[in-house]
Amino acid sequence: MTAGTQRAAVLCGLGGALPATAVPNSALAAELDTTDEWIRTRTGIRQRFVIAPGEATSDLAVAAGRRVLESARKAAGADTEETAVDLVVLATSTPDHPCPATAPAVARRLGLTGVAAFDIGAVCTGFVYALATAASMITAGTARRALVIGADTFSTILDPADRTTRAIFGDGAGAVVLRAGDPAEPGALLGFDLGSDGAGEELITVPAGGSRQRSTATPPPERDRYFTMQGRAVFNEAVLSMSKSAETLLARIGWRGADLDRVVAHQANVRILRAVADQLGLPEDRLVINLDRVGNTVAGSIPLALADAAADGTLRPGDKVLLTGFGGGLTWGSAALRWPAPYVEPVA
Ligand code: COA
Repeated sequence: MTAGTQRAAVLCGLGGALPATAVPNSALAAELDTTDEWIRTRTGIRQRFVIAPGEATSDLAVAAGRRVLESARKAAGADTEETAVDLVVLATSTPDHPCPATAPAVARRLGLTGVAAFDIGAVCTGFVYALATAASMITAGTARRALVIGADTFSTILDPADRTTRAIFGDGAGAVVLRAGDPAEPGALLGFDLGSDGAGEELITVPAGGSRQRSTATPPPERDRYFTMQGRAVFNEAVLSMSKSAETLLARIGWRGADLDRVVAHQANVRILRAVADQLGLPEDRLVINLDRVGNTVAGSIPLALADAAADGTLRPGDKVLLTGFGGGLTWGSAALRWPAPYVEPVA
């Protein structure tokens, strides 16, 4: 970048990590009052992955981080000062502990001791919020190169008897590296739209574990430790919020919906994705879909979908790509970029 030019955050590495254990719909059907057919037709999900006892979110975040740092080094062609990460932002709603944040431990295990590191909690929108935060710090000059990770292990907070949430959620992590660059470069993040509406706080919640319940004398009932979701209301809000956020961003950056090559929406439910494509006037084949393989991996969802689509050639250099997410809070957010040609480590 030459002096005087405008600065942008540019995507220059991408990767993901999944736990070793895949849980097919048939395994849930053997345990709960559900069927493979119901899950496939109502959600599009065939399987999800879950961590083993003793594993935690940071383990997946570190695995994704290792892969993406390796991809960024390969893309840069050398292990130089230019590849040194000075910021780690971890989007998660299942941190290893309520306190402290998980990002500093992840940074240390990646050999990034001393760098700025913090968590962001925006549930399924977490990755877009983290991307916007890291990109803003890069354009402001506060950071030069950022590792942005989305990682969640919802298997640790689901009610084992809840057939709906068990069918939808899976564990996983995805990550990108952003570097300072020029807005005209492929990979430059061209804009963001972020929003929230706390009126919908109770649609997606874990009632216990935070200060609201811990500060009372009576221990909370056991069920309050589990994640709860009002599925139908969330479905409707997800379609509305992602479509509106995408349209707001497209208008801001001067793109037309019809020009989008790929939409990488939060992988919640294939029917939600189809409805968003419909709202944007796009054919379904513009959607990137990997939820059939991984389920809803919360903050890991968008970067894992990006990594899968980049690895299998669905995302091609130069494509106009829109990311859009929706999640608890309620929160929503979108980002846009022209797809670069980063070296992508396959998701493992
Ligand atoms: N197997 C079989 N039946 C199930 C089931 C399962 N795994 N989960 C729910 N059902 C049942 C319900 O109990 C209900 O039964 P009833 O009619 O006897 O009461 C029936 O299916 C329909 O439930 P409903 O909630 O209306 O279904 P739906 O078509 O809305 O699908 C979701 C349910 C949860 C799949 C859907 O609402 C959804 O995907 N919501 C968004 C979830 C999400 O994306 N969350 C994260 C957002 S960030």
